[in-house]
Amino acid sequence: MRANFLQRYLGFTAFGESHGEAMGIVIEDIKPNIDFPYKEVEEALAKRRPASSLYASGRREPDRFHVLSGVFEGKTTGMPICIVVYNKDARAEDYLALRDIFRPGHADYSWYQKFKIIDWRGGGRASGRETISRVIAGSMLDDYLKPIEVVTYPLSIGEMSVTTIDQEFSQKNELKWSDSSNYQELTTYLDRIQAEKDSVGGIVQCEINNIKAGLGDPVFEKLDANIAKAILSIGGVKGIEFGDGFQLASILGSESNDQMSTAGFISNHQGGILGGVSSGNTIRFRVAIKAVPSIGKAQKTIDINGNEKQIEIQGRHDICLIPRILPVIEAMIKLSLADAIAYQKLIAGENLDLKDYREAIDKIDEDILLALLRRMKISEAIGEYKKENNITIENKEREKELLAALHEKARILGLNTDLVSELWAKIIAESKRRQ
Ligand SMILES: Cc1cc2nc3c(=O)[nH]c(=O)nc-3n(C[C@H](O)[C@H](O)[C@H](O)COP(=O)(O)O)c2cc1C
Repeated sequence: MRANFLQRYLGFTAFGESHGEAMGIVIEDIKPNIDFPYKEVEEALAKRRPASSLYASGRREPDRFHVLSGVFEGKTTGMPICIVVYNKDARAEDYLALRDIFRPGHADYSWYQKFKIIDWRGGGRASGRETISRVIAGSMLDDYLKPIEVVTYPLSIGEMSVTTIDQEFSQKNELKWSDSSNYQELTTYLDRIQAEKDSVGGIVQCEINNIKAGLGDPVFEKLDANIAKAILSIGGVKGIEFGDGFQLASILGSESNDQMSTAGFISNHQGGILGGVSSGNTIRFRVAIKAVPSIGKAQKTIDINGNEKQIEIQGRHDICLIPRILPVIEAMIKLSLADAIAYQKLIAGENLDLKDYREAIDKIDEDILLALLRRMKISEAIGEYKKENNITIENKEREKELLAALHEKARILGLNTDLVSELWAKIIAESKRRQ
């Protein structure tokens, strides 16, 4: 399975390990002659980088990106784009003492059970450093997504909650905290957590403004389902709730329905998505992020030989992921939205150029191939069944009936019946061969 390939509007393969040579992405299918968004990529990477914060990992990475291919004189050429960020401040020796020991709360144990090998240097691909690729990809969509605005901010960190939202203040502090009245209390709290060699999680609120109604494709590509998957794929994210979320389960229909007037929705309990499709109301959801697993406090665990161990994790780790995860959440939202918008454009036939038409044709051809494959698999199963039950493979009568039914359907659809006969003769011949 291509689990590091994100098949979206901007299909890309992400690669790299925390303490390997580099992190990066390869985008294979991009339109030519687009101005490469150097500034946007740089700004997004700067937002994700651990600040010179007391509560962020002490790893100091410049996170400069290098475009290795696919861009000439500032414009995309239509050829594969490869972007890398070299790992400059990786200190694999920090992890030597832990190389055979599973860190509680981290991915070590389950990944080892799955792959029977783990890159113990900083968690390899389970490290938060993997999110560099997501942030690069998301920042390439800013132009495409205009005028949509994505806003994310913490509602809580550990036991502390914001009581007011002051976006200006949040831009001025390293925790992106939007409440000046208890910021001091928050830093005192985090200092205590740090002194106790522990960590905390928190809740992030996300809002998507200026969003059109109609995005999202029922039933398996619903917008909320796709956003949820995108967000839950970020390490450390443990929950997502749209609108009033879990509270919707305990309030009445008369309280939770968003009533309407000619001016639009009167409230927004549902979070801007109805039936998996954006309603035009602000999309609003909250994300639950767990406490950073790597802590200095003593913990019980086992090693790969099943021996009990006690560990106190050293290394350089975030105390709280919240400020660093905000740009990653934004990137994943952008990727989900771009996908939904591109699909909606195809459906509505809006602003399509030759590449969009070709993309649509490619998708249909792929569907035809998949349908053929399914047909052949079923033919094989029928063959087995016939053999077991001593039924002859050839059944001319049924073939005639099927062809007549297909001709009838083709006529209704306005398709050429000769073409249907020709295709069907080839398909039936292959099916018989497989039986
Ligand atoms: C931006 C970012 C930074 C992270 N930094 C750390 C870290 O310094 N130490 C750590 O143990 N986990 C860190 N994590 C969390 C782990 O990657 C994550 O908990 C781990 O892969 C296990 O996955 P799970 O929590 O989703 O189950 C970070 C995650 C993100 C998104």
